[in-house]
Amino acid sequence: MRINIKYRRSLIVLGAIINVVFILARCVSNGEKDKTAQSPADKELITFESYTSSQKCMSCHKAIYDSHLNTAHHLTGQPSSEGSIKGSFEKGRNTYSYTPSILLSMEKRDSGLFQVAYFKGEEKRAMRFDMVIGSGVMGQSFLTWRNNQLYQLPITYFTAADQWSNSPGFPNDRVLIDRPATSRCLECHVSYAEGIAGPALEPTGFDRNKIMYGVDCQKCHGPAAKHVAYQTQHPQDTTAKYIVNPVKLSRQKQLDICTLCHGGNIQKTKPSFEFTAGEDLSDYFSIDSNDDVVLNSSEIDVHGNQVGLLKASKCFKMSAAMTCSTCHNTHKNERGKTELFSQRCISCHNTTNEKFKTATHSQINTIEKNCIDCHMPAQPSKAIAVFLEGEETPKTSLLRSHFIGIYRDEIKKFINKNK
Ligand code: HEC
Ligand code: HEC
Ligand code: HEC
Ligand code: HEC
Ligand code: HEC
Ligand code: HEC
Ligand code: HEC
Repeated sequence: MRINIKYRRSLIVLGAIINVVFILARCVSNGEKDKTAQSPADKELITFESYTSSQKCMSCHKAIYDSHLNTAHHLTGQPSSEGSIKGSFEKGRNTYSYTPSILLSMEKRDSGLFQVAYFKGEEKRAMRFDMVIGSGVMGQSFLTWRNNQLYQLPITYFTAADQWSNSPGFPNDRVLIDRPATSRCLECHVSYAEGIAGPALEPTGFDRNKIMYGVDCQKCHGPAAKHVAYQTQHPQDTTAKYIVNPVKLSRQKQLDICTLCHGGNIQKTKPSFEFTAGEDLSDYFSIDSNDDVVLNSSEIDVHGNQVGLLKASKCFKMSAAMTCSTCHNTHKNERGKTELFSQRCISCHNTTNEKFKTATHSQINTIEKNCIDCHMPAQPSKAIAVFLEGEETPKTSLLRSHFIGIYRDEIKKFINKNK
């Protein structure tokens, strides 16, 4: 479980992915292959130049472009700036002390933003914030460049507490400054990074001018330099060329796009950035099929494997067309819109149907406003957890379980709260 090991070394420990989830990650079926698919061998080499700036999309797809700017996808990998970092640089709120003599302070200087390590009040090392990983829904990790290599900074920002925190996996008695950031972090948090050193599968050095930050339009629609060139030169042509619309792909290929980053612990067999929308993910990652997993919901870790969990749900198994887009419009930030998501449940589960009027359902008057808290409860992630200053136990983030089912305990809580 190589990825698992890498996670453990990360700022936010994404590591404690237990076996059930590992097996679930393997549920992603590689059946249903599209026979017309290009084999990866004949396809054009993907480089930074295959892509274009997503600002180019604005002139022809303005509404989507504008709303995408507010999504967690767009914000999940960014160059550092005061605007992109959520933690405070104000005196009194900008420090984390490891021991009475070791302090780390977040500082704004003329040459940039820094994490500065002090020993007994004396400055020992200043490390620049260069890249922000995470939109800050839960937290943010930070990377710094040294030559062409990226290193993880020792302090992370944890949103639920609005505090700087020590990163789990990092020691709590000294400042670790030389933990390399793996290419794996970039593979899910930026759309493309051109490797220039190390093995192709796991580059160790990157061209800092050839990074496409965040989850860009082109991660889900394929490299679009040719689309933009063609449509610009042929403004009278209203049919799209050289672009992928996921909705026109097979269900499996639609899911493949999301599985790249929401499929938990999948193992790459080819460089991750060579996979583009419309291809078979199984040509790039080893994904075993194992749909007979018996689920025990109390053991599920919901971190990052929405695909595996959803696939194990009855809703998915018993409807031929369900994909992630059945509930998510990824062009918009719909976070927290419980009623809107519940409408999407109701599109299949008609609440006026007799079958719907179960004992529990009949007790709730406002049932149409919230199906989510009972059937997709937020559960503590065993993986996204950090240590706050002076605390012995980690604080965890909550994630929605995508194993849609009947959670008796959560349902009791919900009923008590809504009495
Ligand atoms: C010069 C205008 C122009 C630019 C710039 C442009 N597009 Fe398009 N795009 C079109 C036209 C025209 C269509 C076809 C009509 C439609 O679906 O809106 C289209 C369709 C699409 C479709 C749907 C394809 C389908 O088969 O249904 C996607 C996805 C898309 N564009 C993505 C992008 C992305 C991503 C960018 C930026 C990297 C971009 N476009 C830039 C003109 C443009
Ligand atoms: C290149 C990796 C990548 C791909 C591909 C990707 N995602 Fe994500 N997605 C992420 C990351 C990383 C986050 C966490 C963003 C954050 O908060 O920093 C995320 C967050 C989300 C969220 C939560 C948004 C919020 O407001 O908190 C949803 C929903 C989501 N993705 C759905 C999808 C769907 C559906 C697809 C496929 C169409 C998809 N993603 C494809 C990486 C990806
Ligand atoms: C396989 C894809 C994947 C990899 C690899 C990955 N992440 Fe993530 N990361 C996600 C997704 C998806 C989320 C959103 C939470 C979820 O669904 O679990 C996320 C969430 C986060 C968050 C919280 C974001 C927020 O806005 O709340 C941080 C911080 C983060 N990741 C940092 C990292 C770092 C550092 C690494 C490298 C060690 C890394 N991630 C590797 C997919 C990935
Ligand atoms: C996380 C994946 C993801 C990202 C990022 C993304 N899209 Fe899409 N896009 C989709 C999916 C999925 C569909 C198909 C939706 C459907 O019809 O079910 C789609 C559909 C489209 C269409 C077809 C017309 C329509 O309104 O459905 C256009 C045009 C488009 N996207 C443009 C863009 C542009 C421009 C960006 C960036 C600003 C972008 N997309 C970012 C996943 C994504
Ligand atoms: C694409 C259609 C579709 C959507 C959307 C959908 N479901 Fe389902 N769901 C089904 C089907 C089909 C079944 C299996 C037959 C049944 O129990 O009605 C099912 C079963 C269920 C079950 C029974 C699970 C079990 O293990 O017994 C629950 C609970 C449920 N859905 C809740 C939801 C909730 C909550 C949402 C929204 C978050 C949702 N569904 C969205 C199609 C859907
Ligand atoms: C039946 C409806 C449904 C389907 C299908 C669905 N989701 Fe979700 N998803 C939700 C709901 C509801 C939430 C919670 C939204 C909120 O409260 O902001 C959510 C949240 C998320 C989040 C944010 C995680 C968190 O808890 O903060 C991610 C990431 C995500 N979904 C990814 C996916 C991916 C990838 C797929 C496809 C494999 C998918 N979802 C399919 C209903 C769905
Ligand atoms: C208060 C918690 C609660 C809420 C809110 C809730 N459910 Fe349920 N649901 C349950 C319970 C509990 C069951 C199991 C049957 C029972 O005990 O009444 C169930 C059963 C189901 C089933 C399976 C029914 C069957 O045929 O066995 C579906 C489908 C379902 N719910 C969908 C939904 C949808 C859609 C919504 C929102 C419109 C929703 N539920 C809101 C608690 C809830």
